[in-house]
Amino acid sequence: MSALIPRPRRSVAGGAVLVPDWLDLDEQRGLVEACRGWVRGPVPMRAARLPTGHAMSVQTVCLGWHWQPYRYSRTADDAGGGRVLPLPEWLVQLGKRAVADAYGNRVVGAEYEPDAALINFYDGTARMGMHRDQEERSDAPVVSLSIGDTCTFRFGNTENRGRPYTDVELESGDLFVFGGPSRFAYHGVPKVLPGTADPDCGLVSGRLNITLRVTGLADPR
Ligand code: SIN
Ligand code: MN
Repeated sequence: MSALIPRPRRSVAGGAVLVPDWLDLDEQRGLVEACRGWVRGPVPMRAARLPTGHAMSVQTVCLGWHWQPYRYSRTADDAGGGRVLPLPEWLVQLGKRAVADAYGNRVVGAEYEPDAALINFYDGTARMGMHRDQEERSDAPVVSLSIGDTCTFRFGNTENRGRPYTDVELESGDLFVFGGPSRFAYHGVPKVLPGTADPDCGLVSGRLNITLRVTGLADPR
């Protein structure tokens, strides 16, 4: 939500940058509309099941590569077997712009080539435990876009799930990029704050998070 006093951009750890209000309301609504299309299939949005048998409280649909705990594939083997939708070029371009803006470096942005997106939907009670994004065979940054209700985002260290960590609030429109020494840092979402979104963002309730990643994977020949 636009604050009276703009929130400053913030370096949370080496290579981890929060850029508040990076997406304007038009862009947020456009992304929400796109997500509404992607969840229509061929792969449904679903709560992924962890190896423990527990379903995650977050619901996910993917583009480019399908992610399930803990691997990528082109088909959604744990969600009906459909082939994952391609990652659209406009989203690749948005990722390049995000990296360029977060790091203030157009060259690094131009070189960024994401090939997968995970779209996560959080209702007011959903959480995500501390984890590392480590199924990728690349150390290219992860780009994270938030729309809807504000959440507490916990950004930790590369060694363990505990302290030291920093809690930041991710609001609708915020960009968070983590790369370099922070690429494999533990992170999670301990809390969503229901009712905090600007209704003009396109979401009536809940929180959408889109992460763009470079998997470093290739299809088998
Ligand atoms: C994730 O770690 O995959 C999602 C993070 C978020 O929802 O902000
Ligand atoms: Mn993650």
